[in-house]
Amino acid sequence: MGRVYYVSKNVGLGMLVLATIALATIIALSIAYDKERAKNRGKPENEATDSTSMPTPLTTPSTPKEPWDHYRLPDSLVPVSYNVTLWPRLRPNADGMYLFTGYSAVIFSCVKETDLIIIHSNKLNLTNFYGHHAKLSGLGDATAPTIQKTWLVVKTHYLVLQLRSALAVGASYVLHTEFQGELADDLEGFYRSEYTEDGVKKVVATSQMQATYARKTFPCFDEPAMKAVFTVTIIHDQGTVALSNGREIDSVIDGMPLRVTTFEPTERMSTYLLAFIVSDFVNIQSTQNSNLLIRIWARRKAIEDRQGDYALNVTGPILQFYEHYYNATYPLSKSDQIALPDFNAGAMENWGLVTYRETALLYDPIMSSTGNKERITTVIAHELAHMWFGNLVTLQWWNDLWLNEGFASYVEYLGADYAEPTWNIKDQIILYDVHKVFAVDALASSHPLSRREEEVNTPAQISEMFNTISYSKGAAVLRMLSEFLTEPVFAKGLSSYLNTFAFGNTVYTDLWDHLQQAVKNTPGMHIPHTVHNIMNRWTLQMGFPVVTIDTRTGSITQKHFLLDPDSESVLPNPGNAHIQMRVSGEDWVLANTNVSGYFRVNYDLDNWDRLLSLLNTNHQALSIINRAQIIDDAFNLARAKIINTTLALRTSKYLAKERDYIPWESALRNLDYYILMFDRTEVYGALQLYLKKQIQPLFEYFKTITANWTKVPTGHTDRYNQINAIGIACSMGVDGCRELIKSWYRQWMESPHHNPIHPNLKTTVYCSAIAFGGVEEWDFAWRMFKNATLASEAVRLRSAMACTKVPWLLNRYLEYTLDPTKIRKQDATSTIQYIARNVVGMPLAWNFVRARWSYIFQHYGRGSFSFSNLVNGITKRFSTDFELQELKKFKEDNLHVGFGSATLALEQAIEKTTANIKWVTENKAHVLKWFTEEST
Ligand SMILES: *[C@@H]1O[C@H](CO)[C@@H](O)[C@H](O)[C@H]1NC(C)=O
Ligand SMILES: *[C@@H]1O[C@H](CO)[C@@H](O)[C@H](O)[C@H]1NC(C)=O
Ligand SMILES: *[C@@H]1O[C@H](CO)[C@@H](O)[C@H](O)[C@H]1NC(C)=O
Ligand SMILES: *[C@@H]1O[C@H](CO)[C@@H](O)[C@H](O)[C@H]1NC(C)=O
Ligand SMILES: *[C@@H]1O[C@H](CO)[C@@H](O)[C@H](O)[C@H]1NC(C)=O
Ligand SMILES: *[C@@H]1O[C@H](CO)[C@@H](O)[C@H](O)[C@H]1NC(C)=O
Ligand SMILES: [Zn+2]
Repeated sequence: MGRVYYVSKNVGLGMLVLATIALATIIALSIAYDKERAKNRGKPENEATDSTSMPTPLTTPSTPKEPWDHYRLPDSLVPVSYNVTLWPRLRPNADGMYLFTGYSAVIFSCVKETDLIIIHSNKLNLTNFYGHHAKLSGLGDATAPTIQKTWLVVKTHYLVLQLRSALAVGASYVLHTEFQGELADDLEGFYRSEYTEDGVKKVVATSQMQATYARKTFPCFDEPAMKAVFTVTIIHDQGTVALSNGREIDSVIDGMPLRVTTFEPTERMSTYLLAFIVSDFVNIQSTQNSNLLIRIWARRKAIEDRQGDYALNVTGPILQFYEHYYNATYPLSKSDQIALPDFNAGAMENWGLVTYRETALLYDPIMSSTGNKERITTVIAHELAHMWFGNLVTLQWWNDLWLNEGFASYVEYLGADYAEPTWNIKDQIILYDVHKVFAVDALASSHPLSRREEEVNTPAQISEMFNTISYSKGAAVLRMLSEFLTEPVFAKGLSSYLNTFAFGNTVYTDLWDHLQQAVKNTPGMHIPHTVHNIMNRWTLQMGFPVVTIDTRTGSITQKHFLLDPDSESVLPNPGNAHIQMRVSGEDWVLANTNVSGYFRVNYDLDNWDRLLSLLNTNHQALSIINRAQIIDDAFNLARAKIINTTLALRTSKYLAKERDYIPWESALRNLDYYILMFDRTEVYGALQLYLKKQIQPLFEYFKTITANWTKVPTGHTDRYNQINAIGIACSMGVDGCRELIKSWYRQWMESPHHNPIHPNLKTTVYCSAIAFGGVEEWDFAWRMFKNATLASEAVRLRSAMACTKVPWLLNRYLEYTLDPTKIRKQDATSTIQYIARNVVGMPLAWNFVRARWSYIFQHYGRGSFSFSNLVNGITKRFSTDFELQELKKFKEDNLHVGFGSATLALEQAIEKTTANIKWVTENKAHVLKWFTEEST
């Protein structure tokens, strides 16, 4: 074991031989880790062992004096167990407020002498006990000190008790609180979600605790390492059901209208994984995995329409897969999953009661698309992966979030692949994580995966950890590590990590230690450095390398890859290696097979030529993801000015023969930049002719395999590529495409209750039909939009209406966006973005937004994430001096109004416009020439 073939190199004609280049060599060489530099940046190599030498963090210039001014709890008290009773009111009180009341008793033990009790509590009104906010008693022989005073600290979310004497080390106490909170519709903590069924408004009480909202539900030690056992009781109306992490053990009628449901005590767990739900939802269930109860919960109508069936079908197999993969049984006695009408995140891995957006759990066999189905499978696989990794074993603190999320984002592909083995879903990590995060991690403004514990304190700093780098780069480097160690060794280390730390907490280096142990216990396995050393290069430094292979000399060099050639690399660039990479004649070298490595690859021009001619003559000699990788690497190397733009464009020539989705998708994503830069210039005519020529065979291919568009392709990714084929063919003017979609749309207009368009194709067909139609097509879409009962159908229509090329229709639609009776407030900014995406709509949207900035800002701009997307969306095409001046003027003119959450986006827009102007100036003539030559 231990030798992983990482570079394939063909030797001799037609014979593909794997060269004996260990992956380790490249990984170890990539971004050589510079200890001195890292120390200067205050980042110790090993957080676990070097902690004594850690310098004081630069981020906290003045250390707060009082313990309750720190965002982190003191280490003097540890919780053991809680009894929590909650009573949410699903009807408003006389003041129109929705409330919940509750009671909690927490047993904690004292491990360091202290006369202070500091516990989290946020936005709760606490009942007084004899003038104090809480009551304290001793457990067993312990006598509780008397309380001198209690107070709340709003900034740090604490309830503080000052005692007259110290708590005894080793003794345990009980803290009792009674409280009242608001069951607001704020999607945080214990909150309220509303929906309408059969014309009746229904209210659901549900919860989202991650990361810092458990403290808004009941007073608790709200940090992930403060694990405890929770015994939960929920009081609720008859006719509703109460759910929580544990299995319900008793539900008795207590007085006429009320029911009291008690749950089995949880395992030892973190507060951020708690969940409490009261609803009138119903479930479907199975006990296919021996004794484990598996349930899917949703609105009655959704369950009756069998929208939960698919989720129930895949949950059992996915849990079985993880039990085998982790070599550990599912740690709980039941698995509930519930679809909520209002939910902020996509899903949340509460232990034993996972919450989802409806679109991430409910599958409608008639209305949902293949893409909807895939999302359901991968989201379920992601959340269930956390039941062990994250929930059973939990990272000590939020700075290590990348390991938790990166891990789940990697293994979700394994779990989904087990549930749907025909989908080839593991390959898609290239598109949805690796290439996606490459784009962000190639910017000079990127940051390392790992943060020091001291750098992450406030709730806002914790929220910032939930980003693309944590999820997707985390997934990419863990996948690399797993393939490098081989999956059996990776799984062995993982299993020993999970079994060792079950119900406890860890830091990320604990995983490295267990993987190292697994390597050691594998006979014959050698790796050139410790797991620890190898992974430091990827986790402590930002960015990734471009590895350059010169097949004339055999040399391999690497440097930090930055998209903007003018930005300064902050990383060292050492490490030349000479590993028989010399080839000649028709032999070629392709590095990073499987794209297991988190880096890009460049070659000498001769080898590029040989790879291109291989693509043109026999592209199937390379794997699907390697084809996608060659395209994505080439286009990005060209953007970074490492290779010539025409070389990148040449990677798209073989596409006329390509039938697979991943390479096509990769090329279209890259060509999209060319479309945006040139669709208002003479280059576009030539580009259109070229792409038309390239897409035509794909269009014909799908026409054939679907028997003149009467069937759905059987292959999972073929279904996606069919969407690309139709969308691109119609917009590039392939014969027959527009007529086809127009006739489908016509049929629908003629019988609105019978939509003949397959759900997979709806988004594309609606858009094309409206783009090539007039007011009649538009008005029909508007009527269908107003009548839509399925949220995803409404979204498809709302985006399609932005596709019209008729200016007055676009302007009227823009006006609709500011009328909440026409377009819901939450959808306004995304609708304007859809319009700006259209080349005709872009200037109209820009004028519209400029003219009404202060109105839009006041009514639509408060703290919303979508606001920066609005600025990004509108300015995406900006690539002329004139537009740059307009943008700067817009900034000056509206300084008094402000830009709120779009402030940074505006700065980035100015920066990107500047870069676009430069790129267009340098490349336009070559690109025009190339497309002209290639389109004939
Ligand atoms: C918690 O509830 C259990 C069962 O109702 C009870 O036996 C126990 O005394 C309670 N603990 C505290 C600290 O109130
Ligand atoms: C908490 O108390 C304040 C002050 O009395 C009151 O304004 C607020 O409505 C209360 N909140 C809840 C949820 O009871
Ligand atoms: C769920 O599984 C059953 C039994 O295999 C199957 O008949 C049904 O079509 C599946 N439902 C969905 C939505 O996949
Ligand atoms: C699985 O776990 C058991 C016990 O926990 C252990 O004996 C066994 O070696 C593990 N298997 C693997 C492949 O790690
Ligand atoms: C790219 O290559 C072409 C032809 O080989 C050459 O004419 C052109 O100057 C090069 N472009 C750039 C930007 O270097
Ligand atoms: C598709 O249509 C063409 C021309 O209209 C016809 O010749 C061909 O037989 C059709 N193919 C199928 C499978 O229906
Ligand atoms: Zn996750």
